[in-house]
Amino acid sequence: MARGQPLALGRDAAGARDTASPDASGGVSPWPELSRRVQPTRSDRLAAAVQIEVTNEPLAEVAAQSLAFAVPDPMDQLSGPAGEIDGVLGGQLAKLSAAGDLRAEPNAVCVVHTNGRLAADRVVVCGLGKLERLDSDSLRDAAAAAARAVAKIGGTLAFVLDPSLPLPLDEQARAVVDGVVLGSYDPGRWKTSGSRPKPIERLLVVGGDAAAAERAGRIAEWANRARDLANRPPNDLTPEALAARAEEIGGEVEHMKVETVDRKGIEKLGMGAFAAVAQGSDVEPRLIVMRYDPPSAHENVTLGLVGKAITFDTGGISLKPGLGMEEMKGDMCGGGAVIEGMGALAELGVPLKTLAVVTATENMPSGHAFRPGDILTAANGKTIEIVNTDAEGRLVLADGLWYAREQGATHVVDFATLTGAMTVALGDIYAGVYANDTDWGERVVAAGEATGDHAWLLPLHRRYRRYVDSTFADLKNSSTMRQAGSALAAEFLKEFAGDGPWAHVDIAGTAFLPRSRGDYLTQPGGTGYGVRLIVELASRLAG
Ligand code: BES
Ligand code: MN
Ligand code: ZN
Repeated sequence: MARGQPLALGRDAAGARDTASPDASGGVSPWPELSRRVQPTRSDRLAAAVQIEVTNEPLAEVAAQSLAFAVPDPMDQLSGPAGEIDGVLGGQLAKLSAAGDLRAEPNAVCVVHTNGRLAADRVVVCGLGKLERLDSDSLRDAAAAAARAVAKIGGTLAFVLDPSLPLPLDEQARAVVDGVVLGSYDPGRWKTSGSRPKPIERLLVVGGDAAAAERAGRIAEWANRARDLANRPPNDLTPEALAARAEEIGGEVEHMKVETVDRKGIEKLGMGAFAAVAQGSDVEPRLIVMRYDPPSAHENVTLGLVGKAITFDTGGISLKPGLGMEEMKGDMCGGGAVIEGMGALAELGVPLKTLAVVTATENMPSGHAFRPGDILTAANGKTIEIVNTDAEGRLVLADGLWYAREQGATHVVDFATLTGAMTVALGDIYAGVYANDTDWGERVVAAGEATGDHAWLLPLHRRYRRYVDSTFADLKNSSTMRQAGSALAAEFLKEFAGDGPWAHVDIAGTAFLPRSRGDYLTQPGGTGYGVRLIVELASRLAG
């Protein structure tokens, strides 16, 4: 495909065909601008915030369009909030339960109109599943099911916590907020026809701790913003647009400085690996650097967050098969989580110096693309033989990791949709974590596990290093063996992670779902994975 020809056409393009103007290479393109950008994403297409409040009013007096609560299996003659509301409703819930309309299994939802017997218009009873298997995710799923059930109603959703459940109340509050805020996310923002869900405007957590609920709400909103980035199409979310989003955050929060570096600057920094990936694309790459420097932070600890942001991964000259390639717009999810995670840290005022380094570029095949056989020099001086241009993530991260250390990061974590092998190993539930320091790796895993961003520590071993030995250079970027693909990638990254604790979180399976997981995330597309983990990790490191 010649330069300047349309890479993607949207419905707006046809109307613009009669306008011709010079393109970037000086020739005349019949589709100016539109060759790469259909239209900017209007902010009204992006996630709207849910207002979070807490109340301790008696259940019958809670004014809301919908009053929801969860019932565990076994139901024990409707104890907890179910029993209380059943009393007000004159035994109606018990009857529905006996008839099989009201069930405690996961995802079961029963909506009952109150006809004025409660201040709420309707009650929404959600199944929690088996009590002995109850965890925060069960409650997230139940809350999301409630949110989904009232998706056409909107307004205020009240959700009643249950002190008799074996989950601390602030944990329940956090899970309910996650479930409602993440569960009512709508990825269909580019549809122009059909009925869209009516957003829930307000979530009233009944019986919860206000601080825990509000904090969870803010974090979940930042996760939804990361989902917005993941879902934005690659003709809109270019590296420049991602950089603009980071700059926008920098302008909204305190103690944040944002700096972006263009192609020339990337080359000047000696980032030969990052520059090579970017060289095949006509859109400008960006090195995005965010510095969060709050007043009361430790002087000698800087958390470094490094994110892979390939805004579209075609594989390059080692072209990917066409089927499903559209999912590769999600190959920027590591960078998206890091950028929005930084926003969350600053909004919450987490007292920890944090540095974000996001390497944003497309990976495209073209007459100026890098190729298998090329040997590159990374910023740390190591030489890399390219075996497969589709193993581009480790190349951009190599230079990103170096830069984070160079800029003073003491504790580093990178987030990357790095390997298909990760999906084979752990599927769409757990991200795999590799670390050069077991204690640090375990802390990353624990932070994820505490928040619903599931993570599992996987092993590195010095004998994996031979998988990336090259005949010609210091190392190669891929192997012909199909063994331990994600360990091999981690072993490669380790060469660039410098001294001090480093952990690599491979989110290839968890960041962008080709199909719904059937849980509280409800929808395919971006999951926001990493935002909750980042906030928890930074808060623990600060505390
Ligand atoms: N972005 C992909 C990894 C990926 C695959 C993420 C599926 C999400 C879903 C990455 O750049 C890639 O192409 N990796 C290759 C590496 C291989 C060439 C060594 C892969 O996993 O096949
Ligand atoms: Mn790739
Ligand atoms: Zn990739």
